[in-house]
Amino acid sequence: MESLTKRTVVITGAASGIGRSTAMSAARKGANVVVADCDHLGAEAVATSIRATGAGAISVQIDVGDDAAFEVLRDATLAEFGSVDVIMNNAGVLTKGLPEHIPVAEWERVININLMSVVRSNSVFLPLLLEQGTGHMVNTASFAGLFGYSFDRLPYSASKAAIIQLSEGLAFYLKPKGIGVTVLCPGPVATNIASTIKSFGPDTGTRGPGAQFKVRSADEVGEMVVDAILCNRFMLQTDDQVVPILQSRASDWDSFIDTTISSWDTQSTKPTGTGK
Ligand SMILES: NC(=O)c1ccc[n+]([C@@H]2O[C@H](COP(=O)([O-])OP(=O)(O)OC[C@H]3O[C@@H](n4cnc5c(N)ncnc54)[C@H](O)[C@@H]3O)[C@@H](O)[C@H]2O)c1
Repeated sequence: MESLTKRTVVITGAASGIGRSTAMSAARKGANVVVADCDHLGAEAVATSIRATGAGAISVQIDVGDDAAFEVLRDATLAEFGSVDVIMNNAGVLTKGLPEHIPVAEWERVININLMSVVRSNSVFLPLLLEQGTGHMVNTASFAGLFGYSFDRLPYSASKAAIIQLSEGLAFYLKPKGIGVTVLCPGPVATNIASTIKSFGPDTGTRGPGAQFKVRSADEVGEMVVDAILCNRFMLQTDDQVVPILQSRASDWDSFIDTTISSWDTQSTKPTGTGK
């Protein structure tokens, strides 16, 4: 997409963190923004800040885990702005615990919010984009979906890996039809997500993706997302140092697993990183 001026950008999880910063960044490029979140007060505060800059914005309260959420979002967007040009499926939650301690119901909650929300979004927004023959979709995954660096957040990493595969397939399908797809894979970003983590069983400590990755600000990532939309870039990793890790795993996956295990002090619960 060459420009965001007067385009309509819809973002879920936009009351906070990466979604909020992307909303502000898109507004600075002249977009009208739909700030969607389950936190209505937070979403309205972001929309108010955007309107104060002269750009258009509305807030819509939805829980992306609800079946009807994206119909509500589409209808509110079309009523206010008349079209949808960019949909960013960004809302996500994180759960921690050892594999034997995370209940099945919690797996279902995380998969429903993180992954099935993208499926729901596609069923509502894709027909609009296909009819227009233009538009862009951004799906927020994570380093956790690109490579394994812990064993205590498997619903999260599984949902994020699935989002990457889903996005790649959508890129195959949609790029020839004039619709762009970006999969955002952040490493550690300073947001509110840590305060909303649910934990099961004893504290497992925190194993991050690696000490080499500096913690990005949400504003840096918001700018990166807007650039990726404007350049029609598929893979958006927030740190290129992830590439050698992926290469080493691809060249010898067993060795990657053994090296990762041996890099941990398995008796320790001390934090070794801040990654999500
Ligand atoms: N912060 C990181 O280090 C990091 C790293 C990799 C990926 N991510 C991903 O980035 C995305 C945004 O997270 P963030 O770090 O900005 O966190 P955040 O907690 O600051 O923002 C998440 C927003 O999503 C909203 N939300 C949560 N569940 C929702 C639901 N069911 N329906 C609607 N809104 C909901 C929250 O209210 C919040 O406003 C998530 O998908 C997360 O997995 C974050």
